[in-house]
Amino acid sequence: MDVQYFHLDKIGNSSLGFITVAENSKNIPFDIKRAYWTYYTPQDVMRGGHAHKKLEQIIFAVSGIIEFNTEDQKGNRAVFVLDNPSKGLYIPRLIWRDIKFSHNAVLLCLASELYDENDYFRTYEDFKLYEEEPVLTLTDYNEEVLEKSWNWLNDPEIKKLTNSPDFTREDQKKWFSTLCDNSNYYIKGISFNNKTIGAAGLKKINKDNNDAEYFGYIGEKQFWGKGLSRHILSEIVSVAKKEFKLNSIYLNVIPENTRAIRAYENFGFRIDRIEENNIRMTLTLSWK
Ligand SMILES: CC(C)(COP(=O)(O)OP(=O)(O)OC[C@H]1O[C@@H](n2cnc3c(N)ncnc32)[C@H](O)[C@@H]1OP(=O)(O)O)[C@@H](O)C(=O)NCCC(=O)NCCS
Repeated sequence: MDVQYFHLDKIGNSSLGFITVAENSKNIPFDIKRAYWTYYTPQDVMRGGHAHKKLEQIIFAVSGIIEFNTEDQKGNRAVFVLDNPSKGLYIPRLIWRDIKFSHNAVLLCLASELYDENDYFRTYEDFKLYEEEPVLTLTDYNEEVLEKSWNWLNDPEIKKLTNSPDFTREDQKKWFSTLCDNSNYYIKGISFNNKTIGAAGLKKINKDNNDAEYFGYIGEKQFWGKGLSRHILSEIVSVAKKEFKLNSIYLNVIPENTRAIRAYENFGFRIDRIEENNIRMTLTLSWK
C-alpha cells in the first residue's frame, strides 16, 4: 500500500459526541505494537524529517490540523492534511516525511513496531541512498499465483520453453483442488522483493528411490538472466533434503532452452540423457 488517507468510522451524533475505534486485525492493516501521541508542538515549525526501514504507521490528528509532506525513494512527493479525528494517514515503510502542526494539534500514532533507533533514517541523504538487499523466497501456491500461472503458461514463449501441455481453466481448477492431497507433489510461488515472479517445485516425489523431478519457471520475463536461478534452485534443493530426505533430483528440459541448461549446469546438474526433444539432467544431493 502506498502512503494514503486512511478513514475509520465516526460513530455517534452531534448531540452525544463521536467515537472512532482502531482494532488489531479488524480495521488496521498491521498488528499495533505501540501507540504514542504528541502535543504542544510549536505552531508552523517543520517537524518530522525522518523515514523508517520497517515501521508502518497510521497517524491521526485527534485535535487541530496536521500537514504532511511525504516523499518515497523514487522521489514521488505528496501533501496530506489531517483535519478531522476520523481521517488518518497510512504511512508505509521507506517514506520520508516533514510535518507541520496547528497550535492545538494532537498527533496520535499507531505503529507496527516497538521503538528502535536503528529503524530510523535521520538524514535525507541516508534515506535516498539506501538500497534494499534483494530477497527471494518461496511462498504459498495460492489463487493469486494460480491466476498468474495461467497467464505465464499460456504465453507462447514460456509454454514452449517449459514444454507445457495445453490445459483449460477447468483442468487448472481441478489440479489446484487436488494439490493438498497429493503427497508426491510440492509446488511454491517464487517471490522476489515481495513481487510474485514464478513458481517452482518437485513432482513424482518417490520415497523408495529417494528422488523427485524438479520443475520451475520465472514467469515475469524482466527477471530472466539476472542470476535468480541459483537462488530458486537453492531453496528447492534445501526442501528436497530437509523435508523429503531425497538423495537426488532430476529434470527434463528441451534442447533449445540454452539458458535453463546453463543455469542447471552452473548449479551442478549433469546431463545423463540426450534425446531428440528432451535433455534429462540429474543432481546428486550432498549430505555434508
Ligand atoms: C530458465 C530459468 C529458470 C533460468 O533462470 P535465470 O535466473 O533467468 O538464469 P540465470 O540468470 O541464472 O542465467 C543462467 C545462465 O544462462 C545464461 N543466459 C542468460 N540469458 C541467456 C540467454 N538469453 N541465452 C542463453 N544463455 C543465457 C547466463 O549467462 C547464465 O550462464 P553463465 O552464468 O554461464 O553466464 C529462467 O530464465 C526461466 O524460468 N525461464 C523461462 C521458463 C523456463 O525456461 N523454465 C525452465 C524450464 S526447464
